[in-house]
Amino acid sequence: MTDLLTLQKSFILSHLKKGDVCADFTMGNGHDTAFLSKAVGESGRVYAFDIQESALASTRKTLESEGCPQNYTLILDSHHNAKKYIGEKIKAGMFNLGYLPGSGKKELTTKRETTLPAVKDAIEMLDSDGILLIAVYPGHAEGELEGIMLKEYLSTLSRFEMSVSKFRIVNSPTSPYFFIVEKK
Ligand SMILES: C[S@@+](CC[C@H](N)C(=O)[O-])C[C@H]1O[C@@H](n2cnc3c(N)ncnc32)[C@H](O)[C@@H]1O
Repeated sequence: MTDLLTLQKSFILSHLKKGDVCADFTMGNGHDTAFLSKAVGESGRVYAFDIQESALASTRKTLESEGCPQNYTLILDSHHNAKKYIGEKIKAGMFNLGYLPGSGKKELTTKRETTLPAVKDAIEMLDSDGILLIAVYPGHAEGELEGIMLKEYLSTLSRFEMSVSKFRIVNSPTSPYFFIVEKK
């Protein structure tokens, strides 16, 4: 059976190579940051963002325990401020929307008012042949609304500049799904 996480990673890896610059816009427990860190290796750079100090601590642990190269910058700030920290193009970006798993702090979920400007800026920062992955969790109210908002916005992007696709399990409507934005 198709595993959406494996599918997400294979999309990212088809665009990313050693030495590239990338960003994890929702660090959480650092699993995506670790994946990106290993993908770009010693000579690459990973910028990672979260609004919770506990996410940075947890990510630091994940990166150390997985033996990741020291190619990452962990930033305690909202992803809609990412441009202040990333002064260069990125080859890949990941948004895993929602709240920190296992934290019990569901109120600290990503929200439409900051998700939209963050996604717009991330698309602007994309290098040619760059990729943005946005995973949406429609099983909670804000997640469902984020997905509707993103579909509306992403549908407006020029097909001559970007390819936007959506991957969703049709017979499980509350399962997570994701958008892929690829810059031509
Ligand atoms: C589903 S978790 C991410 C999981 C993570 N990618 C991993 O591999 O463990 C979503 C994260 O987004 C963070 N978040 C919420 N609002 C944010 C914002 N405005 N900017 C950056 N991160 C935010 C939450 O604190 C939470 O840790």
